[in-house]
Amino acid sequence: MTAEPINLMKQQVGKAAADRVVSGQVVGLGTGSTTAYAIQFIGDRLKSGEIKDIVGIPTSFQAEVLAKKYGIPLTTLDACDRIDIAIDGADEVDPKKNLIKGGGAAHTREKVVDYLAETFIIVVDSGKLVDKLGSTFLLPVEVIPMAIAPVMRALAGLGGKPELRMGVKKAGPVVTDQGNLVIDVKFESIDDPVGWEQKINNIPGVLENGLFVNCVDLVLVGEIKDGKPTVREM
Ligand code: 5RP
Repeated sequence: MTAEPINLMKQQVGKAAADRVVSGQVVGLGTGSTTAYAIQFIGDRLKSGEIKDIVGIPTSFQAEVLAKKYGIPLTTLDACDRIDIAIDGADEVDPKKNLIKGGGAAHTREKVVDYLAETFIIVVDSGKLVDKLGSTFLLPVEVIPMAIAPVMRALAGLGGKPELRMGVKKAGPVVTDQGNLVIDVKFESIDDPVGWEQKINNIPGVLENGLFVNCVDLVLVGEIKDGKPTVREM
């Protein structure tokens, strides 16, 4: 598929999620190219007066920059004790709505914000749907820098093939918004996402992994049907 239809799907699904935001809500703002459209459309609706009194809680530096660009006021978890709705992307979605996230190295903050939300909406194009997690995407694991070597060994000991994520247009490894590093791990298949989420997080030095389990309320899927972008609920 060419880039153009994928972007159209992302745009439509981002808009469909932004349309679910109502006045007065605290909104968790996810990270990635699909959520970027949702942030843009929330900003458009605020600007036109269709909705008002929205505040956003960003999941990354990227989300913060986009929210400022599109005029969404921001708050923090120190100042606010609830999140009404969170909108975020994913790298893989299984039939039980479990996810792999972290393609943008933002999964730690995303998990904090998304898990707190009363309603958590995922926005993906149809290429992200898989039968089993781990079949197309490596599992991202955020690790504190001094623990990289033992965590790599521990992940290999669990049967994974770990790789330190390297920067693009930046020499050296990717550094997260928290100043940590990311290991991407290939597992043959992840049959028990609940167990693996806990097992990997129990390795000393791991801050958070990209398995999101039993937390999603709604998955909006962008598809091309008869040459046109459409959105369906999974
Ligand atoms: C960032 C994420 C993103 O939500 C995920 O990578 C999907 O991004 P995109 O919508 O660009 O495909 O988890 O850490």
